[in-house]
Amino acid sequence: MPLVGLKELVQKAYKCDYAVPAFNIHTYEDAVAIVKGAEEMKSPVILMASPSAIKHLGIKVAACIMNDLAQRSSVPVVSHLDHATDLDIILKAMKAGFTSVMYDGSNLSFEENVQNTKFVVKVARAFGVSVEAEIGRVGKSEEGEQLEQILTEPESAKAFFEQTQVDALAVAVGTAHAMQKQEAQINFQRVEQIQKIVDVPLVLHGSSGVPDEDLTRISKMGFGKINIGTVLKTVYVQKIREILLNKPELKDQITLLKDASVAVTQMVKHKIELLNSAGRA
Ligand code: G3H
Ligand code: ZN
Repeated sequence: MPLVGLKELVQKAYKCDYAVPAFNIHTYEDAVAIVKGAEEMKSPVILMASPSAIKHLGIKVAACIMNDLAQRSSVPVVSHLDHATDLDIILKAMKAGFTSVMYDGSNLSFEENVQNTKFVVKVARAFGVSVEAEIGRVGKSEEGEQLEQILTEPESAKAFFEQTQVDALAVAVGTAHAMQKQEAQINFQRVEQIQKIVDVPLVLHGSSGVPDEDLTRISKMGFGKINIGTVLKTVYVQKIREILLNKPELKDQITLLKDASVAVTQMVKHKIELLNSAGRA
């Protein structure tokens, strides 16, 4: 199955009441484990490189890992740049072969956010790349720094979409990044208000903190893309710790990381099930 753009995947999900899972990758091993989970569930999948992943891997290596895995995969895979605030990085990512980018102007004024997003959309169209942007602000940054949440105003979301024509729109409806427990309280009334007046696939950030039943509910409410990162890091590190404790004789990091990545694949399959994305490849 080929490497694909975000637009076609999320549009289909949006119309058919399921959501495409978008998982943050940080290393080669967790990227492999994520694609394996998606293949076993016959689900499309979005691989995302966050600012910390880009800092660790570099743009070219991140693109190579994701695009090579996509080309060898039996399910559609998107290579997505997550939470980019720097226009230069976005341009480099497009040149490196990412099929989708998120421009994150959530820290800017509405006008600046619109202006920069429009520029990204214009360049992205020339590259054949999809664009996600954010209106409102999801609490806590990817790096864990405290950011105040600003719930998305439905009218602002409508105006933002009309002016930018992004392919997917991230909104703040009660989640926060990097939650260790599933304690997010989604404002479903706000979701309904947005969904009623904005005709574009929505994106949920900070989804590690969302209770299972709410994840299923929201995947049928106009959200075509659900971003999940923290929980995969947590289960991966937990498994590594467990293996090291139980096998003190282990000397080989390839075996360690491969064996531990089983926990990532399992969690990926569980989330795919919740999003009703199994069998949609
Ligand atoms: O953009 C990535 C996500 O919003 C992931 O959030 O790490 O809290 O699951 P999370
Ligand atoms: Zn996010």
